[in-house]
Amino acid sequence: MTSQSLAHDRRIQSLPDPLYNIPSPPVGWLGGHLLMYRRDPLNFLLRNAREYGDLVRIQLARWFIFQVNHPDDVQQVLTKQAHKFYKAVIYKSTLSEYLGNGLLVSDGDFWKRQRQLAQPAFHTKRIQAYADVMSEYTQRMLAKWADGQRRDIAREMMRLTLYIVAKTLFDADVSGERHKVAKALEVLLHSVIEESQIIVRLPDWVPTPARARKYWSIDTLHDITMGIIKERRASGEDKGDLLSMLLLAEGEGGDRMTDEQVRDEALTLFLAGHETTANALTWTLYLLTQHPQIAQRLRDEVDGVLGKRVVTLADLPQLTYTEQVLKEAMRLYPPAWGFARQAVEDVTFAGYDFPKRTNFIIIPYVIHRDARWFADPERFDPERFNAQNEPNITRYAYLPFGGGPRVCIGNSFAMMEAKIILASIMQRFVLTRPSAQPAVPEALVTLRPKGGMPMRLTAR
Ligand code: HEM
Repeated sequence: MTSQSLAHDRRIQSLPDPLYNIPSPPVGWLGGHLLMYRRDPLNFLLRNAREYGDLVRIQLARWFIFQVNHPDDVQQVLTKQAHKFYKAVIYKSTLSEYLGNGLLVSDGDFWKRQRQLAQPAFHTKRIQAYADVMSEYTQRMLAKWADGQRRDIAREMMRLTLYIVAKTLFDADVSGERHKVAKALEVLLHSVIEESQIIVRLPDWVPTPARARKYWSIDTLHDITMGIIKERRASGEDKGDLLSMLLLAEGEGGDRMTDEQVRDEALTLFLAGHETTANALTWTLYLLTQHPQIAQRLRDEVDGVLGKRVVTLADLPQLTYTEQVLKEAMRLYPPAWGFARQAVEDVTFAGYDFPKRTNFIIIPYVIHRDARWFADPERFDPERFNAQNEPNITRYAYLPFGGGPRVCIGNSFAMMEAKIILASIMQRFVLTRPSAQPAVPEALVTLRPKGGMPMRLTAR
């Protein structure tokens, strides 16, 4: 189909003519690029950048989306013209069912105010108080690990980060097997994933067993969170956790969040705060099994800094190679592999005028594998992030935590947690993979290994 006939095919969203000049892979007969995208999103997006360049026009069913691949343009969207973009509608509609109007999905003035209120909960001093919880829960996990066992590391990391976020957020210990919160979260995560895989979606009013489970989990989480909030309000106590911070946060005029707002923010942090970190750790441990020399160097650092001691906050500044390894793993496997925006007003960048409501996607998984910014991009090389090299990385070419005003609010929390967990594991166990097949990333809400990450444990 030519650009002219595309523009006049009424079934398809119409664009201003110049936007048809933006390169685009050939479309299939049905649904534009939808089938190609569904079949293998990561490779489809990677090929787009390699074959069609810095800005690529994608057609998913009747709609167009622009894939932004150049760091300068990413900077325009995330920072320089950030006020002209909102979170994309598709992203919001899936997540807001769970997260109400929490930080991840809210926009405009409401988002700005909530972000200002939540920010103090993430100040360095406050976050640092959580190091002991992180270390203690990691030790509890390691106490269950034994020499010669085989475990799914993806599952282990997910459980551990969930316990940590529950404790730091609510001061709640959900590590009891039968704890309702843990169960509800597990059901919820499953249903988010199930939904993202459904090709033919039934109308929302059709009651399916999966939907019944989902609504049970949302109701349970809402009820439990509200219960805790009401208790806290009544006692007025500052327990030093994130929830107390949210409850006590005051805006400039002395206004506070309503209980419902605190609930939405708490659930947002709950969900956003564990799966991503778990995946970062799973992929890091995977890459270390593939690169024994790097793993050995990491063990040397950990042994040198910690000896047989349990890691504490004071050790973290010395664990520099540990941090390099994590950063490089998040380059190759960014847990938040892609995110989306919609223009809320007309916007100009990359030499084009885009009308209001145009959709854009930014894919760290693709940008991080661009040879212009990272030489030999498929190679796992933590030296890219040593003190000498890291400052030379092109701005906005590395964005595991996003960028601009909507940068991840939990990035310091996540880095601290990941360092503590990784160092503790390396100190006690050598992990190997029973399978010689490379792990395959699956682009769900976050970047997960397909079929989990089974590993064999050898005690040191
Ligand atoms: C390795 C771990 C993590 C990664 C890779 C990650 C990644 C990201 C990214 C890329 C965004 C921006 C999305 C966008 O611009 O559309 C984001 C936002 C966010 N993250 Fe994280 N995150 C991680 C851990 C955490 C943790 C531990 C928390 C909380 C405890 C958290 C809470 C949030 C929240 C609330 C937002 C929305 C911020 C806003 O829009 O104002 N994240 N995260």
